[in-house]
Amino acid sequence: MNDPALGTEALRERALATLVTARDRTTLLTGCVDDPDLTAQHSPLMSPLVWDLAHIGNQEEQWLLRAVAGQEALRPEIDSLYDAFEHPRAERPKLPLLPPAEARRYAAEVRARALDVLEHAVFDASRLTRSGFAFGMIAQHEQQHDETMLITHQLRKGPQALTAPDPRPAPPFTGPAEVLVPGGPFTMGTSTEPWALDNERPAHRREVPPFWIDTTPVTNAAYQAFIADGGYDDPRWWQPEGWDHIRRHSVRAPLFWHREGGQWLRRRFGVTEVVPPDEPVMHVCWYEADAYARWAGRRLPTEAEWEKAARHDPAGDRSTRYPWGDADPGPDHANLGQRHLRPAPAGSYPAGQSPLGVRQLIGDVWEWTASDFLPYPGFRAYPYREYSQVFFGPEYKVLRGGSFAVDPVACRGTFRNWDYPVRRQIFSGFRTARSQEAD
Ligand code: AVJ
Ligand code: FE
Repeated sequence: MNDPALGTEALRERALATLVTARDRTTLLTGCVDDPDLTAQHSPLMSPLVWDLAHIGNQEEQWLLRAVAGQEALRPEIDSLYDAFEHPRAERPKLPLLPPAEARRYAAEVRARALDVLEHAVFDASRLTRSGFAFGMIAQHEQQHDETMLITHQLRKGPQALTAPDPRPAPPFTGPAEVLVPGGPFTMGTSTEPWALDNERPAHRREVPPFWIDTTPVTNAAYQAFIADGGYDDPRWWQPEGWDHIRRHSVRAPLFWHREGGQWLRRRFGVTEVVPPDEPVMHVCWYEADAYARWAGRRLPTEAEWEKAARHDPAGDRSTRYPWGDADPGPDHANLGQRHLRPAPAGSYPAGQSPLGVRQLIGDVWEWTASDFLPYPGFRAYPYREYSQVFFGPEYKVLRGGSFAVDPVACRGTFRNWDYPVRRQIFSGFRTARSQEAD
């Protein structure tokens, strides 16, 4: 959502388009499998798809129908079923959830009413509706669950249910492997992006010493060299808790990989294929990313380093919305929005690179950073504590940049994602960095 000065009708159009895009995606993800598949739990890490569907509708009801428009609850008795804090994912299949047809009807009923609210909305009436924030927040929420549902599809056993064209083959990347980001302060976070969520706020200055950062995400080929060198058998590379974790769970390669006939294969949305060497590595946990970086004589970038590489324009001493500038993401900038069901080869999307030539910061794979998920100075929870505030602390690591599975509306240079350092069902990869030695 680019222009804070967008007129009322343009804002209404924009909000409508983002809500429609999200619902089209939800419909595809919940329409390509049968009812038993929608109600099954494909992994204890995930909800049944039918839970996500009604939860999407329930959040929309709470914020657009009740909070914005002051309407009565449509079905007050179901609120607690779809409250993510009342029921952990593993328990959700046992709840008396709305069956698929009813969940669809409920989400559609909420949406019809929400579009009516949107049609009559006044966008400066309250903080919640200013610049269409509540509509943007709800479109982002649905898209976040669309990424979650795609993860469930990836975990699901059985034949392929989804297809998409592959990214265009890219000419081999011939740029430098790393670039130096000069030291000095930059502006991190935002106070002006209208649909930015609470944890991205406020904008503040950060001093970042000079550092080198990879121009592309770490590839499967590079990661295979770490495996072949005995990386998973050498405690020198691992944090003690990470070492303990991989021993206990026999982690020896990225999730969904297995070795057969002298090569690495992977399962991707129901299809088994050779692991492509030039693609960013994916489905690694924070401990694996951290261990690889140490093996390579490097480290993960901090969150501030990542954002400086992605947003600082050295020419203007200004932070841009994206690595390529302020324009909303287009198909030549980044691999976003489930257009493809895989990352593009490392070095793709020259039009999306940063002024220093760092590629694929946005899209392809979420990138683990060294940093814990913490509030920025001056943070205020808005509009609900359970979006960010309850997660702040050392148990979560920050991921940046978005994956192929996230929609542009839920992906920005300032956008922050977080997860436990053991998680690897997410579309997670990483790039490495190193400090500039003092001369
Ligand atoms: C920001 C991706 C960590 O899925 O747990 C969805 C997003 N918050 N519904 C999550 C979210 C509430 C959240 N992440
Ligand atoms: Fe949610």
